[in-house]
Amino acid sequence: MVKTHRIAVIAGDGIGKEVIAEGVKLLQKIADLDGRFSFAFEYFPWGCEYYVKHGKMMDDDGMEKLKEFDAIYLGAVGYPGVPDHISLWELLLKIRKGFDQYVNIRPIKLLAGAPCPLKGVNRDQIDMLVIRENSEGEYAGAGDWLYPGKPEEVVLQTGVFSRKGTERIIRYAFETARQQGRSLTSISKGNALNYSMVFWDQIFSELALEYPDVPTYTYLVDAASMFFVKQPERFEVVVTSNLFGDILTDLGAALAGGLGLAAGANINPERNYPSMFEPIHGSAPDIAGKGIANPLAAFWSASQMLDFFGYESWGKLVLQSIEQVLINQTKLTPDMGGPATTQETSQAVINELQRVANCES
Ligand code: NAD
Ligand code: IPM
Ligand code: MN
Repeated sequence: MVKTHRIAVIAGDGIGKEVIAEGVKLLQKIADLDGRFSFAFEYFPWGCEYYVKHGKMMDDDGMEKLKEFDAIYLGAVGYPGVPDHISLWELLLKIRKGFDQYVNIRPIKLLAGAPCPLKGVNRDQIDMLVIRENSEGEYAGAGDWLYPGKPEEVVLQTGVFSRKGTERIIRYAFETARQQGRSLTSISKGNALNYSMVFWDQIFSELALEYPDVPTYTYLVDAASMFFVKQPERFEVVVTSNLFGDILTDLGAALAGGLGLAAGANINPERNYPSMFEPIHGSAPDIAGKGIANPLAAFWSASQMLDFFGYESWGKLVLQSIEQVLINQTKLTPDMGGPATTQETSQAVINELQRVANCES
């Protein structure tokens, strides 16, 4: 019997639409080649254009609708004309929080053939898995804006680090490191953030006692940023807070081929709600509509989705096909120094995947 996975597609804004259209083609091709499963894609037109027309980023019962799906495939949210804090809080962050997708998994791995701005680096020296807290911390949305426009004006943006929230992300990271037989590095900032990050460090030390087999390291985020560039091989599995994880993974993306290649999975490990797969880049208004956005990040996030559904061999084949296209170089988009369009890069990966799949069957 063919198993059907229901996927909610929120292509969103700018290049989100362009890259997700290609990612859907890739997933569809894989389902056709496999035959044991299929995808039922349902499209939601939510995003900034929707906001301009309807005064809201998603339908009022949007979360109810999404809840029924097995996964969400998202492009990017945010576009000039709608304030970013509105578009992001009412769509992307609403989903991450509302569906308790508290684990954000962002692989920073230099694939074969991918460009790297660092000199003298061996490819295997950049291979980390960043596990970012995705539900609270600096992104809790707690705060206030007092006396707006008055001389007494004050704004408060409060970080919220709960024991439950901090423990569960660090535990998830320890479990991952143990399973992969790799070290775990915690990145924090206890010297300056004298409540939140002291608490984070304390919980990291507490949990480390339960995982004596996992080698651990801790860095302050400023030094960690320096070592990301100078000695990336120090990092294997990394766990960090919401904001630090956001910033460090754009830095990591730059090391591993650029934003056009970096993917992220927003996971609800208990599977009480759908998880969401997305490139980590934004809507790129500077290149939107030109047909030159790099679709590889959207493909890598599709690969994460395949892993999540238990089709790891397909997930791996997607990465191998991306690598082959990176090695060949002729079908890369301009951000990677190539001449290709979004669709040409996409087609090259899909052709490669089909070629290998046909050889194997
Ligand atoms: P961005 O990631 O959209 O773009 C940064 C730079 O990287 C741009 O020069 C862009 O052209 C380039 N770039 C990004 N992805 C690319 C790709 N696939 N191919 C080729 N080049 C690519 O970041 P930004 O400009 O800071 O943000 C633009 C908008 O996107 C803002 O509204 C922001 O809030 C939003 N945003 C959304 C998400 C998301 O939905 N997950 C993530 C980041 C930013
Ligand atoms: C990301 C993005 C989001 C984040 C923004 C758009 C709210 O930058 O997914 O990295 O900060 O998490
Ligand atoms: Mn980001």
